[in-house]
Amino acid sequence: MVEPFHDSVQLQESLELDYFRRPRGPRHWRRVLTIVAGLASAVVAAVSLLPGQRHMHQAAPVATGHAMLNDRCDSCHSSAFQPVARLLSCDPSRLSVGDAACRRCHSVGPHNDKVAETSCALCHQEHRGKAKLARVADAQCTRCHADLKHSFPDAGLAKVTSFAHSHPEFAVWRNRQGDPGNIAFNHKAHMTLAHSGRGEADKALTRLFREGCAYCHKPDAGGHYMAPVTFQQHCQECHPLVVRLTVPLPGDIQRIPHPGPGEGPADVQDHVRQRVLALVQEYPEIMLKRVRSPHRPFPGAEPVAKEIGTSTEEHLAAAERQLFAGPDGCRRCHPDLKAGVGAGMLPELPKPFLPRRWLEKSIFNHQSHRSMECTDCHGQALASKQTSDVLLPKLEDCRKCHEPKIGARSDCAECHVFHRR
Ligand code: HEC
Ligand code: HEC
Ligand code: HEC
Ligand code: HEC
Ligand code: HEC
Ligand code: HEC
Ligand code: HEC
Ligand code: HEC
Ligand code: HEC
Ligand code: HEC
Repeated sequence: MVEPFHDSVQLQESLELDYFRRPRGPRHWRRVLTIVAGLASAVVAAVSLLPGQRHMHQAAPVATGHAMLNDRCDSCHSSAFQPVARLLSCDPSRLSVGDAACRRCHSVGPHNDKVAETSCALCHQEHRGKAKLARVADAQCTRCHADLKHSFPDAGLAKVTSFAHSHPEFAVWRNRQGDPGNIAFNHKAHMTLAHSGRGEADKALTRLFREGCAYCHKPDAGGHYMAPVTFQQHCQECHPLVVRLTVPLPGDIQRIPHPGPGEGPADVQDHVRQRVLALVQEYPEIMLKRVRSPHRPFPGAEPVAKEIGTSTEEHLAAAERQLFAGPDGCRRCHPDLKAGVGAGMLPELPKPFLPRRWLEKSIFNHQSHRSMECTDCHGQALASKQTSDVLLPKLEDCRKCHEPKIGARSDCAECHVFHRR
């Protein structure tokens, strides 16, 4: 048998030269389908122009916070889409939604004095069905922060490309600057006080034992940071400011209030004066009685009779000496207080100060970490003897959880704001 294609005549005959004239099913349907599709598109396009149907043009709905704007395209799209211009320019910051549209509803602060650029839609990307528009991708931060010096030569910040791999240690540790606070406090002594068992008799010690850190550190109104430590709430119970008069008086009337906000030693002095004068008026026979007390010039010597603390002025001087120069007075907690020279002279007290915020370039929320022990992050508190010790966690402590493999978020927006408040 001869193979057909080895014979050129047979090959020629086997070709169907008018094959295109042969009637075929799909050809008919194709024409019908083309017309139907064209008509359908026209209908859809027409419908999409009806009010309330514009969202057909969206890739995905706008973010949850903007749901009420979903069909009001022109509230954001104030300028033309300019697809050709944008395709040709390849400039990602050329947007169809201008900042002015966003600013009509939002007044947000700039990043800082150096950064004027704020193409809102570059960071807050719409039509992605996002629940939170403020969750901005890290790339929007690292486009500057991966090499800040490149565009901002005078910027003094380290390079950051991701929290997991290249984030600087917190400045407070990097610069070893210490705690700038100037009120004396020994965490170790007070925390071991709580565990010494001496608390049974003493209400305050028992409470310190029960509450631990929370005796002094309670969340502030927002719950994110700790409320400031105050003398009245946190020290007074154990260290009341008392003036011991040389005469026996009934009750607890020698207590002196600690200066409140904006007050100082002058207010304490005023208070002592008023108090002593009031006592002199109320108990003249006790306050102004001249008593003799045994006084030994040196240990072991014969007592010498001497008149003490019996005039109003003497009461005042003794009271001020105890408060302003004695070990149980202001000095206990304000070690840099310099007593005044001479009677009635006010002491000098550099403004008492305890920092309120520590990591001001970031945000933190104690409430979100309430399942942890305080000492998981502030372990040094149990060993610290000086105010100057820094008791804050280090970067490593945060990476234990804020790491993609562990689960807590580690995108920049978790711990930083962009818009200056
Ligand atoms: C809350 C503001 C907002 C609303 C409301 C909104 N958009 Fe957008 N839309 C944006 C932003 C922002 C972009 C991205 C801008 C860019 O890339 O220039 C965008 C992009 C688009 C794009 C892609 C083209 C482009 O410019 O990138 C289309 C198409 C679009 N929107 C259609 C719509 C339609 C249709 C509606 C109304 C049904 C709508 N949008 C409502 C904010 C909005
Ligand atoms: C017509 C007013 C209006 C316009 C225009 C508008 N927004 Fe909003 N936006 C709102 C309202 C209302 C909310 C929800 C309430 C709130 O959080 O203030 C909101 C919420 C937000 C939020 C926070 C909520 C979230 O999901 O994280 C961001 C970020 C935001 N808008 C950015 C933008 C940007 C960027 C533009 C411009 C593309 C824009 N908005 C345009 C009214 C508007
Ligand atoms: C470099 C990225 C970036 C740019 C540009 C940017 N934002 Fe933001 N925006 C953020 C981040 C990150 C947050 C969340 C942290 C914060 O609140 O600062 C945010 C938060 C917001 C919020 C919510 C604030 C709140 O209190 O909940 C609004 C509203 C907002 N931006 C509007 C705008 C507008 C309007 C513009 C343009 C003028 C703009 N953003 C430009 C990154 C950016
Ligand atoms: C357009 C460039 C640019 C973008 C985008 C940008 N930053 Fe910055 N950022 C800067 C500059 C410049 C400084 C100021 C440096 C200085 O003061 O020396 C700064 C400062 C900071 C600081 C230090 C804050 C302070 O008070 O000094 C933090 C934290 C920060 N940026 C986080 C972010 C985060 C998070 C994002 C993304 C949402 C972001 N930045 C996006 C340029 C940028
Ligand atoms: C009797 C009150 C008292 C108790 C109890 C107490 N603190 Fe403090 N704490 C203070 C005072 C006062 C300061 C400010 C002086 C200083 O920095 O030492 C302070 C400061 C701090 C600071 C600020 C950061 C720093 O570097 O100074 C941290 C963190 C802290 N304490 C954690 C703790 C922890 C954790 C506990 C429990 C183990 C605790 N404190 C128990 C009184 C107390
Ligand atoms: C539960 C009781 C209690 C509370 C509350 C308390 N202290 Fe004390 N504190 C003591 C005792 C007890 C001593 C050791 C004995 C003494 O010197 O009186 C002491 C000692 C001190 C000393 C001196 C010696 C040292 O160990 O360094 C200072 C300073 C001091 N406390 C400051 C404070 C400050 C500031 C507060 C409030 C933030 C405070 N204390 C709250 C009980 C307390
Ligand atoms: C047991 C510790 C302790 C003693 C003793 C003490 N203080 Fe204070 N003082 C504090 C603490 C803690 C603060 C910071 C929180 C506050 O203002 O209550 C403070 C704050 C101050 C302030 C700042 C007030 C403000 O808010 O502006 C002044 C002024 C002051 N003390 C003066 C004195 C004087 C004067 C004395 C002695 C008569 C004294 N203190 C005794 C612990 C003490
Ligand atoms: C888990 C929390 C966390 C995350 C996530 C995080 N940071 Fe930070 N960042 C901090 C803390 C805390 C500081 C210290 C702030 C201070 O010292 O006031 C800091 C400091 C900084 C600083 C100042 C550095 C300096 O020189 O002192 C910059 C810039 C910065 N972060 C940028 C970023 C960028 C960009 C990202 C995302 C890639 C990011 N951070 C992610 C917590 C975080
Ligand atoms: C996940 C770690 C973590 C845990 C757990 C934690 N802290 Fe903090 N704490 C921080 C950080 C970070 C700061 C710095 C915040 C700032 O001021 O920027 C801080 C700050 C503080 C301050 C200084 C005041 C302030 O709010 O800035 C005190 C006081 C304090 N913590 C006490 C406590 C106590 C008490 C507990 C337990 C109830 C606790 N912390 C649990 C991380 C932690
Ligand atoms: C034991 C695990 C753990 C450690 C350690 C830890 N975090 Fe967190 N953090 C979490 C969890 C869980 C959340 C809440 C879930 C989330 O938002 O990812 C959170 C939330 C946060 C938030 C967002 C808070 C809010 O509600 O907006 C910040 C900011 C933050 N952490 C900062 C830090 C810093 C700074 C450190 C280190 C000092 C740290 N965290 C250490 C587990 C941890």
